[in-house]
Amino acid sequence: MTNSDQDEKTQSLHDAYATGDPKKTAAVYDDWSAEYEEHMKGVGYTHPAMVAAMFSRYQPTGAGTVLDAGSGTGIMAEILGPLGYPNIDGFDASEGMLALAAPKNLYQNLKPGLLGERLDYDDDSYAGATGSGVFTEGHAPLSGLDELIRVVKSGGHIAFSVARIYLGEQIEAKAKELEDAGKWTRVECSGRYDSTPLGDDVIWAQVYVFQVN
Ligand SMILES: C[S@@+](CC[C@H](N)C(=O)[O-])C[C@H]1O[C@@H](n2cnc3c(N)ncnc32)[C@H](O)[C@@H]1O
Repeated sequence: MTNSDQDEKTQSLHDAYATGDPKKTAAVYDDWSAEYEEHMKGVGYTHPAMVAAMFSRYQPTGAGTVLDAGSGTGIMAEILGPLGYPNIDGFDASEGMLALAAPKNLYQNLKPGLLGERLDYDDDSYAGATGSGVFTEGHAPLSGLDELIRVVKSGGHIAFSVARIYLGEQIEAKAKELEDAGKWTRVECSGRYDSTPLGDDVIWAQVYVFQVN
């Protein structure tokens, strides 16, 4: 892939951020999926390592299956497995990303799913959940957190990265809303980090961890 092809894909993604339409974002990822990992390696993508580190600080190994929201090509499972979480299910808005994750055989169950809509899982069906790179502008709305709480059992942890417009006021307001409703308890929030330290732009992010009540 040439630099100008890369620039075009990056521009498409930026356009998708701007639309605020998750289905358009998914279409960009379908188109981009084959080059996704190469691009992310090139920019030194840090979300998966940060989310896995924060999740494993609190979620006991052996507690049961973890749901990886916006699982993409499966980078989270590549990290969570060796950390002691071998049982992972995943869902993603993009069929193209799911098709690249599937042959890695790291997820027990992978299927399409959209944060922002009702997820096709029963209440209390997972021991914990992760979300790396998915709660960001033009991707999943923060209302997707309500659904992750619904499908995670009481006592389980949800760890997710937050970037761009969601950082600061928006995530803090959502966190408080869910705390006030008695749905979850705040556990920890990481310091700010650049999610693409080798890329041209600084993209500040934080990882939040909550425990489901
Ligand atoms: C930056 S990638 C992160 C993928 C993977 N978690 C990782 O860290 O490599 C964002 C992923 O979120 C997915 N996505 C975007 N909006 C979504 C939504 N509303 N619901 C579910 N997945 C979504 C995209 O298709 C893409 O695979």
